[in-house]
Amino acid sequence: MTKPSANPLQPAVDRRQTELTRARYNRIAPIYNLMELLPERRFSGWRQLLWAKVPAGRILEVGVGTGKNFPYHPAGVEVVGIDLSERMLAQARRKAEKLGHPVDLHQMDVQQLDFPDRSFDAAAATFVFCSVPDPVLGLRELSRVVKPGGKILLLEHVRIDHPLIGPLMDWFNPLAIRITGANINRRTVENVRRAGLIIESVTPLGPLNVVRLIEARPAG
Ligand SMILES: C[S@@+](CC[C@H](N)C(=O)[O-])C[C@H]1O[C@@H](n2cnc3c(N)ncnc32)[C@H](O)[C@@H]1O
Repeated sequence: MTKPSANPLQPAVDRRQTELTRARYNRIAPIYNLMELLPERRFSGWRQLLWAKVPAGRILEVGVGTGKNFPYHPAGVEVVGIDLSERMLAQARRKAEKLGHPVDLHQMDVQQLDFPDRSFDAAAATFVFCSVPDPVLGLRELSRVVKPGGKILLLEHVRIDHPLIGPLMDWFNPLAIRITGANINRRTVENVRRAGLIIESVTPLGPLNVVRLIEARPAG
């Protein structure tokens, strides 16, 4: 089932896929930190890299999950965090309280943001656009809410363009979605371009460059 978006030029959000994604992350929420225990050893350095690039001002963090980025938020920035899953958000709230970290959290879909145009100085997301049902729609929303000249910073794992590994990732993807909630074969750099954002840099990270730190900005 789809619901038309407020902007007639914008494609509609796929309600069914979005609900499936929300339900998946609600299910995973209690064990998410455990599942990520080993990879997090590597991720923490990459999170630092991303947050070091975030400018001062009002920042939107998309898909906060359980709040893994909170320790890396630079001092003095005002962070608004959103997530589709209320159970992931509940964990994020607990983490924010534990750290005494002031972050304004909301349950919201990045494909249909409830924020005015140009209301943020920057937006950031880590390992999120692999699970957003329509990533291009979500990235267009970031382009709308970030001020012209503002930054959009993404840390994402992507499909590897290798003649053997790429098709293997495609083959394994349906199982990966069931287990982790994430697509392992998203072409996120291309999706950023398709959303009309200007890419300033792409830094390959990790084994086989499977992770990319993408720095982009709205075209306007
Ligand atoms: C793999 S987790 C990453 C969480 C966190 N950013 C991290 O680095 O650990 C993906 C997160 O994106 C959220 N998410 C997926 N689709 C979303 C959407 N359409 N809008 C907002 N959040 C979404 C999920 O609920 C989940 O918390």
